[in-house]
Amino acid sequence: MRVTVSRKAHFNSAHRLYRKDWTMEKNDLVFGKCNNPNFHGHNYDLIVSVTGEIDKETGFVIDVKILADLIKEHIENAFDHKNLNLDVDDFQDLNPTAENIAVVIWNKLRVFIAHNQELEVTLYETPRNFVTYKGN
Ligand code: NI
Repeated sequence: MRVTVSRKAHFNSAHRLYRKDWTMEKNDLVFGKCNNPNFHGHNYDLIVSVTGEIDKETGFVIDVKILADLIKEHIENAFDHKNLNLDVDDFQDLNPTAENIAVVIWNKLRVFIAHNQELEVTLYETPRNFVTYKGN
């Protein structure tokens, strides 16, 4: 009996999508307004899901308090009210697209999740635009 437990979280961050090795014209063409040199912000919504067997003793797949604390410590504290390009090491050489942010979040959390459990990260960059990464 495998069950999925999910926790919602939130952070506000600024970013700019561009490649240093491209001209301003090419960056504008590919990234449009997201290439604004003075950055822009998003209210990111995050859903982190852990799938596994229900523990017979506790009745939990994962203690959701532990999951909430992991997200708070490793994601919200690292990203909230930060400029992803300038303040967060993970994006020094990685474009902070929703796709790449989701992968970075997954990699940060995966080490804390049991090997026999699956981790899934869904990141909303806007209420209508979201990406999902399951580690494959
Ligand atoms: Ni953006």
